[in-house]
Amino acid sequence: MLIRRPPDIKTAEITPHSVYQNRRDFMRDIAGVALAGVAPALWADVPEPSNKDFAHAQKSAFSTEEEPTPYAKATSYNNFYEFGTDKSDPVRYAHSLKTQPWSVTIAGEVEKPGTYTLEDILKPHPLEERIYRLRCVETWSMVIPWIGFPLGELLKRFQPTAKAKYVAFETLQDPEQMPGQKSLFSLNWPYVEGLRMDEAMHPLSILAVGLYGELMPKQNGAPLRLVVPWKYGFKSIKSIVKITLQETQPPTSWNLATPQEYGFYANVNPAVDHPRWSQKKERRLGGGFFADLIKMETQPFNGYAQQVAGLYQGMDLHKQF
Ligand code: MTE
Repeated sequence: MLIRRPPDIKTAEITPHSVYQNRRDFMRDIAGVALAGVAPALWADVPEPSNKDFAHAQKSAFSTEEEPTPYAKATSYNNFYEFGTDKSDPVRYAHSLKTQPWSVTIAGEVEKPGTYTLEDILKPHPLEERIYRLRCVETWSMVIPWIGFPLGELLKRFQPTAKAKYVAFETLQDPEQMPGQKSLFSLNWPYVEGLRMDEAMHPLSILAVGLYGELMPKQNGAPLRLVVPWKYGFKSIKSIVKITLQETQPPTSWNLATPQEYGFYANVNPAVDHPRWSQKKERRLGGGFFADLIKMETQPFNGYAQQVAGLYQGMDLHKQF
């Protein structure tokens, strides 16, 4: 994501091996890392996931059959401003994030509010693999095999009251662990996001704890992040510590930063340009330097219109952002 800068078309595609090595060092709790079949020769020196922490995760009918982005790309080209604004900052610096122990507070309009350990949060939920397209508002996209479970299933457990109309999410705020939060030229912290209740309950909305069959890397939002595939990537908030159900629409980080550019809904919509660039096309990353420059058509709702367009009946989709 960019703060008052032109679209990011700089492609430092080949991340130095040392960067992966660093990433591996801090992933002590992951038994092995890597990716075999899908990685083109370009990534041949990148270790391949072999641990398959989540090998038992069920396949999902919601998965796309498109080729997943190489693991190395998805875990080294990230947006996680808490660790810096450059795409390579999260993989370099996210090792300082302490993901154990972790707890999540469930607050607001629920019958069972409280602060729960991550283990308690996850325990009842069978994990699924959901291979989703991820379309960033900056016009790049990836295909990521997430491991997670439906957000709606979690919310139901805490028994939302009749007043619960929206769900607000909050990322950890701790500048010692997240050095990007010390910067004066970034977002206001903590990073916050939100969904309307029906969006949150939609079966495509998931909380993810892993990707490519392994535990979520810190740079991708460990230990728990949101994934809402029909919305621009900035809605998919990382490293969640608080979920509040509420009657009013919650503030969201990018809308607070530049309200004229980023809205609450942020549904992927090629018909509505960003004020500074077109949203008609996207670059599917992961094929290498030249392949990553090729543009493809962006689909309304990122290709999930059949499942989600009904949520927005009566809304003016040309204005919606
Ligand atoms: N969540 C937090 N807490 N901080 C962030 O900076 N960036 C968002 C989103 N979630 C962000 C965040 C943006 S702009 C995108 S595109 C996606 O995370 C990127 O997810 P990825 O790095 O796993 O591809």
